[in-house]
Amino acid sequence: TPIRFEAVAPLRAQAAAWRKAGERIVLVPTMGALHAGHLALVARARELGQRTVASIFVNPTQFGPTEDFSRYPRDVETDLALLAEAGADAAYLPDVATMYPPGFATRIEVEAVSEGLCGAFRPGHFSGVATVVTKLLNQVQPDIALFGEKDYQQLLVIRRAVRDLDLPIDIQGVPTLREADGLALSSRNRYLSADERRAAPVLHAVLDTIARGLSAGREAGPLLDAGRAKLEAAGFGPVQYLEIRDAETLAPVERPEGPVRILAAAYLGRTRLIDNIAALTP
Ligand code: PAJ
Repeated sequence: TPIRFEAVAPLRAQAAAWRKAGERIVLVPTMGALHAGHLALVARARELGQRTVASIFVNPTQFGPTEDFSRYPRDVETDLALLAEAGADAAYLPDVATMYPPGFATRIEVEAVSEGLCGAFRPGHFSGVATVVTKLLNQVQPDIALFGEKDYQQLLVIRRAVRDLDLPIDIQGVPTLREADGLALSSRNRYLSADERRAAPVLHAVLDTIARGLSAGREAGPLLDAGRAKLEAAGFGPVQYLEIRDAETLAPVERPEGPVRILAAAYLGRTRLIDNIAALTP
């Protein structure tokens, strides 16, 4: 079972002892409600280093006022059992007062890459993510931190912040783990009704069709129009975005060239689903 930490000082002391022993520390930040996607990050962490720290913190500053912070799934006992099974060395579960004590007044704002896509529909979200992740990185001081490509814009926002703030931490992305039907694993999938769950894989199917079309040299515009129509026919709506962006910078691309990323966010009933995949243009 992982050593459980709730306060910063004992966590830091443990991490310092591991570092002194020459052990490489890998951090996996999460908001809990762990699923196989999170556990794939823990498995990767164990391959990359000697010590794996998983954090569980449902971060209030990354949720908008109308978002699901209060009903976000929380199940600490199950999460700890899953982390034990996955072989994590430490579980860090700070409470809100530890992360945001009275008087807290600092926010990390990452320009450019945070704008557009999810940033356009979730004002303040990436600032909340960048702020909490910067704190977690400073608290644990890992050698490596892992983030899922499932949240591709988040991964790039964190890479940018870490570079810009000169944090000596290697930020690595991990490929998205999917159900057999293509649906990306997500803590929010448990909100889906049986009918919605049946429709949900269409999101990945649409991205896949666009990726194949781009690779075959077809034009972006009609591929995106057809994709949007297919999502709406499957019961998705509103479709917040379905876009092709530069894979490195997320800058909009006039004419897709080289490595691009196709990204989408759409509601299915009350649940907001996001997904993205890589595509290579000829
Ligand atoms: P959360 O949604 O719990 O995700 C934790 C990590 O797991 C993220 O890096 C996310 O990209 C990754 N992940 C989620 N589903 C995945 C899947 N199907 N395959 C691979 N990786 C997956 O993302 C957050 O928490 C928060 O924003 C956080 C970074 C912890 C900051 O609060």
